[in-house]
Amino acid sequence: MPKYKLSILITAGPTVEAIDPVRYLTNHSSGKMGYALAKAAVDLGHKVILISGPTGLVPPRGCRVITVESARAMEQAVLKHFAKSQVIIKTAAVADYRPVSIHSQKIKKTGATLMLRLVRNPDILKQLGMRKRADQTLIGFAAETQKLIKNAEKKIYEKNLDWIVLNDVSRKDIGFGSDQNAVTLISKNGLRIAFAKQDKMKLANALLKIILSKKKANQKMVRL
Ligand code: CTP
Repeated sequence: MPKYKLSILITAGPTVEAIDPVRYLTNHSSGKMGYALAKAAVDLGHKVILISGPTGLVPPRGCRVITVESARAMEQAVLKHFAKSQVIIKTAAVADYRPVSIHSQKIKKTGATLMLRLVRNPDILKQLGMRKRADQTLIGFAAETQKLIKNAEKKIYEKNLDWIVLNDVSRKDIGFGSDQNAVTLISKNGLRIAFAKQDKMKLANALLKIILSKKKANQKMVRL
């Protein structure tokens, strides 16, 4: 049995919310950033559970993969594995709304417009923030198009996070679908570290290095 350093839970990709047997609601998340983080964590000797929405990506070797479709299925899987995880990284782009009901038959076209009623999905990360223990580190991702820092910092506070990784998703050259990304890592104490545009694998290694080294520093302080 390999001796792992930490148990790390990572979510990745979009969620998919069914409308009827042939249609669904989703978003542009490719899952590449979450999969890169999972690979980086495995390579560092950590035990990794990757909970992923549909992506079409090949999961990194050496991690346990749980595939889900809807936000509620992701919520169930995350809550099941949360307590035993020391570091939780929520890269997934979770759909905030789902159709009120899933039509059992294909919706046939009728009038010129169609009303689709949506209902709020659970905020998985917020629930984790409420349950978080002192020995757990919780990291969120913020997909923003405006007031970038302000919106990301608000999420740290509202979801009780230790770190948030701010993504400017209005930039066409990075982020969703791209192999490269540029982000700002923000801590709950107001530390901000900007990472220039770079390969997502390289970025994943750099982000983990900081998050995990600070975690160790915190633990040492607690022990003293
Ligand atoms: N998140 C989640 N559950 C949701 C929505 C978001 O767990 N229902 C998590 C994401 O995985 C991400 C973080 O919350 O780590 C921020 O997601 P984002 O889409 O940027 O923001 P929202 O919280 O959905 O807020 P808004 O859409 O208003 O920007």
